[in-house]
Amino acid sequence: MKISSKPGPLTAPLPAVMVSCGDMENSNIITVAWTGIINSHPPMTYISVRPNRFSHSIISERGEFVINLTTADLTRAMDFCGVRSGSDTDKFGQLGLTREAAETVSAPMIAESPVNIECRVTEVRNYPSHDMFIAEITAVHVDERYVDESGAYNYAAMDLVAFSHGKYYRLSPEELGFFGYSVMKPKTAKKRRAKKK
Ligand SMILES: Cc1cc2nc3c(=O)[nH]c(=O)nc-3n(C[C@H](O)[C@H](O)[C@H](O)COP(=O)(O)O)c2cc1C
Repeated sequence: MKISSKPGPLTAPLPAVMVSCGDMENSNIITVAWTGIINSHPPMTYISVRPNRFSHSIISERGEFVINLTTADLTRAMDFCGVRSGSDTDKFGQLGLTREAAETVSAPMIAESPVNIECRVTEVRNYPSHDMFIAEITAVHVDERYVDESGAYNYAAMDLVAFSHGKYYRLSPEELGFFGYSVMKPKTAKKRRAKKK
């Protein structure tokens, strides 16, 4: 039996990303869980931000931001960026995080994060609690430690964090499957196993 309750945003797990905004001199970081991908080609994403956040005005004015993925090592910093405001706190300074110049936007990237996703806002949609910044992904950067010789990304080694109903969790290294494995032909499975050895 399921217990029904008042409708709420119960989808989980979600990423809790560190969104950097501003420029190399004046920058801020806001933690955002209301984010995701909305289109593949061109790659498009969104972040939903309450209008009262300090970062909201920066992102509205600049029309740019960087999504920085959170690792287990960055969890405390990510939480801090989600409970302190840039209106009275220098989050980069207090957390000892390093600003790194981005390629296509003036917002800095967080050097300590293994994946930085540069975004340019194309549209803002106003909802009752949050404004949704729809953005095109204009450049991505992955720490070379997680890129193999063939150029493939090793996301499993990044120790990324999931946000699930108010709590932060490590992803288990146990792989349950991969895209399309449920319909994989036995011949392909054999080939994959041989490749792994
Ligand atoms: C895990 C987590 C997820 C959050 N997700 C969002 C979000 O999706 N949108 C939002 O507006 N605020 C979100 N917040 C709250 C903001 O990060 C928080 O209010 C922050 O202090 C705003 O910083 P700023 O005032 O420097 O912009 C989240 C906080 C945490 C801890």
